[in-house]
Amino acid sequence: LAEAAPTHLLVLVGLPGSGKSTVGRQLARRLGVAFIDSDQVIEQRIGCSIRAFFDREGEENFRDLEESVMDELTAAPEAAVLSTGGGAVLRPANRQCLHERGTVVYLRSSPEEVFRRIRHDKTRPLLQVANPLEQLRKLYAQRDPLYRETAHYVVETGRPSVATLVNMITMQL
Ligand code: S3P
Repeated sequence: LAEAAPTHLLVLVGLPGSGKSTVGRQLARRLGVAFIDSDQVIEQRIGCSIRAFFDREGEENFRDLEESVMDELTAAPEAAVLSTGGGAVLRPANRQCLHERGTVVYLRSSPEEVFRRIRHDKTRPLLQVANPLEQLRKLYAQRDPLYRETAHYVVETGRPSVATLVNMITMQL
């Protein structure tokens, strides 16, 4: 599997709050490559927060934009660590281009663990609901198979520190 996976691009997928940005930034530093956060790239393009865009334009328009940004970012030849939005795997085109163009690591967190981490975070549009834990459980049930389908490796985020996760991932490359 490691031989088959392209090596210049390391992609992190997983639920919102699974640590994609935190782990991704440290990984990029360790590997000496650029760190790219697809949500940040999208926010620069739209000139407002993803949350505001969701409210104004709706989820499908966000997904269209996300799909074109994902295609563009994964086509770049420079070595990088790419952290993706938690819903990027919903579109089959994204699952395919991430898997084919990068080495994809799924940071697997349980919905309960994610909830503990991000319960006070007001920037995540999909969690602005009456029962965020219930919402996370639904997202997990829907997306866990899609993260697995997209990924070359699965890393459990439950206990290890960020530094340990970075070590575990670099050892698998
Ligand atoms: C989303 C997750 C967000 C962001 C958008 C939609 C999702 O990214 O892309 O709000 O569908 O799970 P994070 O996973 O970085 O929070």
